[in-house]
Amino acid sequence: MQDITKRFPGVLANDRISLECKKGEVLGLLGENGAGKTTLMNILYGLHQPDSGRIYVDGEEVRITSPSKAIHYGIGMVHQHFKLVDTLTVLENIILGIPSKKLLLDLAPARKYLLKLCEEYELFVDPDAEVGRLPVGQQQWVEILKALYRNVQILVFDEPTSVLTPAESDQLCRAIRRLTAEGRSIVFISHKLREVMEITDRVTIIRDGKFIGTIPTREATQLKLAQMMVGRPVSIVRKPRPALEEKKPVLVMKDVNVSDDRGVPALKNFNLIVNAGEILGVAGVDGNGQRELAECVVGLRKPASGTIHVRDRQITDVVADPSFVGFIPEDRQKTGLVLDFSVSENLIIKEYDKQPYIKNGVLKYPVIKKHARSMIEKYNLKTPSGEVKVRNLSGGNQQKVVIARELNLGPVLDIASQPTRGLDMGAVSNVHDTLLSERNRGAAVLFISAELQEVMALSDRIIVLFRGEIMGDIDGETADVSTIGQMMLGHPLEVGI
Ligand SMILES: Nc1ncnc2c1ncn2[C@@H]1O[C@H](COP(=O)(O)OP(=O)(O)O)[C@@H](O)[C@H]1O
Ligand SMILES: [Mg+2]
Repeated sequence: MQDITKRFPGVLANDRISLECKKGEVLGLLGENGAGKTTLMNILYGLHQPDSGRIYVDGEEVRITSPSKAIHYGIGMVHQHFKLVDTLTVLENIILGIPSKKLLLDLAPARKYLLKLCEEYELFVDPDAEVGRLPVGQQQWVEILKALYRNVQILVFDEPTSVLTPAESDQLCRAIRRLTAEGRSIVFISHKLREVMEITDRVTIIRDGKFIGTIPTREATQLKLAQMMVGRPVSIVRKPRPALEEKKPVLVMKDVNVSDDRGVPALKNFNLIVNAGEILGVAGVDGNGQRELAECVVGLRKPASGTIHVRDRQITDVVADPSFVGFIPEDRQKTGLVLDFSVSENLIIKEYDKQPYIKNGVLKYPVIKKHARSMIEKYNLKTPSGEVKVRNLSGGNQQKVVIARELNLGPVLDIASQPTRGLDMGAVSNVHDTLLSERNRGAAVLFISAELQEVMALSDRIIVLFRGEIMGDIDGETADVSTIGQMMLGHPLEVGI
């Protein structure tokens, strides 16, 4: 790809980016969220047309106007959000869209070839399973098999490991090695330094839509890649943990049963204690009850049975009290903020009906603005003023607004649900620092995250959720990836070892 430029309304997503992937190599495409990685690869896959630039395959210039053109040129893509039909079977999904001369499809040869591919790449799926019922990891196998069924020579993966357990990630790595050994080429999009170091041969780094450089992985270090990715010197240090005093339970959940939106049990006979001065990390593949856990602890979802107490008071009595519970929700734009309200309004949204923000039914804007000014300073919020709509702030600064509002009064319990999702590195480390200082001042922190690395880096204790149950409760200091990985797959920790 040469000098690719792509502009969206108000955003220069790709600014003359060039990238070259050789036969039989894994090329990493590394950049922070919003750097333009997906856009660049969507162009290669024919989903977007570039404003300018050229694409060559095997030395020939090509125009890729649609995904079927891309496949014609031997290019396949495994998307971040799968493009499968949930109600069809694996086999039906795989042959979907392949032109056939016959009116009635004979599935037997297709099935045979699919099984052969499963065997060859050790990506096992049941051809007759309905795709919507498969675990996410296996859905990704279906996407990969679908591309291989079309015999693509270049396969793009868009942040594939974000939905995989550690063991599944290993499986993916093995499949990728086999593909490159056959002479196929892989473009591996990621913002995770560690996995880029592990799997790629070379790395292309982009930042803010611009090409920064391409280097051979063996000449790279995580630190060097991080600096290229964020454009300034960074330090990667493990944060020290102060010693815990005696345990004081803050959040106590007893025999809680709660269902998800479809009425399916999401937490089953769930028991959990989070103590003052500790970060309890909740690991697990997305969709194993994490969302429902956060929602019932903040009173947004009513358990069918069981009790939830914060410091001996019922959760329902304290949840609206900002000095008791602070909540950083998973979807800050929908649940955490009113995007069309100003920063200053968002900062008091939980207390607008209380002194000193209201008097005789009238909002006191001078007080509200003054409060905003002090919050902007205290939380180092980057905004032209408190009167700017929250919509116009960056993701990291939107998150700072949520944090400022939720944690300013020093709640005894903090609930942080996927608090770094979609944020860039600077903002992620800001959130991490916040959670650690909350813990250090004595708050109980329930920290739910699908990013295993951050759960392991921050947590004093870690529980692993699988289909609404706790597979193990382990010490954060000694936790290791493979043990947690086993639990993420549904194997409970064996007690006594
Ligand atoms: N379809 C689109 N319409 C408008 N803006 C978009 C679209 N797709 C991406 N963008 C913007 O382009 C930039 C790059 O996005 P993206 O390629 O998704 O980044 P990455 O994959 O590196 O996280 C972002 O600012 C994003 O908001
Ligand atoms: Mg992307």
